[in-house]
Amino acid sequence: MARRPVAVLISGSGSNLQALIDHGASPEASYEIVRVISNVAGAFGLERAARAGIAHQVIDHRGFASRAAFDQALGRALAESGAELVCLAGFMRILGPELVEAWADRMLNIHPALLPSFKGLHTHEQALAAGVRLHGCTVHVVRPALDDGPIVVQGVVPVLPGDDAASLAARVIRLEHRAYPLALDLLASGRARVEGEVVRVEPGTPTLIVHPELG
Ligand code: GRF
Repeated sequence: MARRPVAVLISGSGSNLQALIDHGASPEASYEIVRVISNVAGAFGLERAARAGIAHQVIDHRGFASRAAFDQALGRALAESGAELVCLAGFMRILGPELVEAWADRMLNIHPALLPSFKGLHTHEQALAAGVRLHGCTVHVVRPALDDGPIVVQGVVPVLPGDDAASLAARVIRLEHRAYPLALDLLASGRARVEGEVVRVEPGTPTLIVHPELG
């Protein structure tokens, strides 16, 4: 089956981008990353793209008079890249509804919490403050509201006594690196389909990644 072309939007280190690149290099991957776009010049993710030989560019939001103008430039770059799917991977700008609607059901995000809990920033601090015993990450289809949308894959980790935000973040991000390639593969291959506000998968399709301690 032809690989679906994907664009990845980043703002920083791009460790999730790296996981997508690494999985994308395997013969069974159902996607190919055709463009990486960063809104931050010098983001390490751009270096990762360069090393992998992937076309990459900077669109700095500070160069635009309005959020809408930035979104339009981003939309043009995405269209021009030939991407059929878009992954937000540590992309720290909120996209306006027009761009999100243009990519409805074709844009994914990864969030470091078990949605719908702990939206926004500082998710590990939020989880510790709430005293939850389970935490994790969610790959979801992007909707106009922040950290909202149909869930594709979740990864769950335990919250252990003595955890701080850093130890929890380290446990969660290891699962992020497995959850994102899985979710993108499911969507790209058609094994996952967005039906309204839920994602349906064929029976037997894995959509949950469990930390070994939860066995
Ligand atoms: C990840 O924790 C992701 O869930 C969040 O931003 C972080 C990005 O990390 N949206 P990286 O740039 O992929 O290393």
